[in-house]
Amino acid sequence: QANLNTSEIGKKIIHFQSIDSTNTYAKEIAEKMPSGTIIVSEEQLGGKGRMGKDWTSPKGEGIWMSVILKPHIPPEEGSKLTQIAAAAVCEGIRSITGLNALIKWPNDVVVGGRKVCGILTEMVAEINQIHYLIVGPGINVNNSRFDESLSNIATSLYLEKGEKIHRKKLLCEIINKFDQLYNDFITEGTLKKSIDICRMNSALIGREIIIHQGGKKIKAKALDITEDGLLEVIYEDGSKSKIISGEVSIRGK
Ligand code: BTN
Repeated sequence: QANLNTSEIGKKIIHFQSIDSTNTYAKEIAEKMPSGTIIVSEEQLGGKGRMGKDWTSPKGEGIWMSVILKPHIPPEEGSKLTQIAAAAVCEGIRSITGLNALIKWPNDVVVGGRKVCGILTEMVAEINQIHYLIVGPGINVNNSRFDESLSNIATSLYLEKGEKIHRKKLLCEIINKFDQLYNDFITEGTLKKSIDICRMNSALIGREIIIHQGGKKIKAKALDITEDGLLEVIYEDGSKSKIISGEVSIRGK
């Protein structure tokens, strides 16, 4: 914790050698833990990805972490925390490694078109009140290989940079950024700083994309990310819309 300089996020860090899933564990203890508590593990035996997928989390190779947050915001705004986390991870990677990390809205960070980080955000809420959110980034840092089925879509910072990355330095940088951006959001009530980062480092803006919606694939072009963190797109018929969240892929890739 030596290099941390935060007001809320990372004040308490729980470090495991091995765990099933940091998100699952975070949910179990969230009620009794202060907002900002971080769970981080050297390996996960049952790492979870989005949409019920598994997340490979080999020992000592990545940053497998979950942050417990208790912001006083309406549940509809919960996904904003994912944007804040993506901005923090992207900036952290850029400053520690110099790699051209880009954000693939809404929750991936890519380098050279392949994924280095995914974020699984889970929320427990009532109609108008969030009990807690678990924001769980998984970052492929020093992985030296991926299963054949993943090698086209996933990569690690080590594979892109050609040298091993100091995981603790990167973790501290990300936590510091996350804390700054989170505080900005809480005190100013706007996502402005995070969205500026998401826009400046967007893997989607200006590109032809495919929006995967309820089994359908719709062609569009990504135009912008709004102040609220929505993806603004234009369809082939010229109509525009703002997408709240979902799966997007880049056409031709
Ligand atoms: C995705 O599908 O892109 C999201 C992957 C999220 C993986 C991370 S690793 C730390 C945290 N704990 C989990 O079980 N999953 C998230």
